[in-house]
Amino acid sequence: MKFFVDTADVSEIQELNALGLLDGVTTNPSLVMKSGRDIMEVTKEICAIVDGPISAEVTATDFDGMMTEAAVLSKIADNICIKVPLTFDGLKACKALTSSGQQVNVTLCFSANQALLAAKAGATFISPFIGRLDDMAIDGMELIAEIRKIYDNYDFETEILAASIRTVNHVKEAALIGADVATVPPATLRALVKHPLTDKGLEAFLADWAKTGQSIG
Ligand code: E4P
Repeated sequence: MKFFVDTADVSEIQELNALGLLDGVTTNPSLVMKSGRDIMEVTKEICAIVDGPISAEVTATDFDGMMTEAAVLSKIADNICIKVPLTFDGLKACKALTSSGQQVNVTLCFSANQALLAAKAGATFISPFIGRLDDMAIDGMELIAEIRKIYDNYDFETEILAASIRTVNHVKEAALIGADVATVPPATLRALVKHPLTDKGLEAFLADWAKTGQSIG
């Protein structure tokens, strides 16, 4: 499973990338707003840090506007992945962009039928939003499972990018189902390493080691 980080915070991206954890980055207008940065500047910096697809989202809602914005965003770097919303105009833009070799992430997916349309439009990635469905008492993970089944039934190459991840269990469950990618907020990505028995075990080993009076090297 590939790991993307879901943030526009450059220092977080630098730190996680240095750990060798990142295969890509997803941003959206809300994350750019939170960063307080100019979209062009911050996206260019991110593209230079991580060697993988960097999703940058269009904000126009009509096809022509999306294509104009995609042309601007795609000039930032070769690893830009244009993010379009799951609307008919977004799907039309997806088809046009992917036909010209541009990577596209179709975002705001909340149903299996929407994911089917995105695959037919040639999307590179489909982003089902798990957490936002869970917030409405609808099982977001069920959607990932449905999309996996449909894409496998028809050998669609569109990658399932599990998004709106809120917990470490979301990551595990998405991996068990076979999502191709999880885009994870930095804090959740860091929490994946934590286990109380690891901390307890390490503490005990270090205490015993101190009793030996030895040092290595
Ligand atoms: C994915 O590309 C989205 O940016 C993101 O996962 C949305 O997450 P949220 O529902 O926590 O805002």
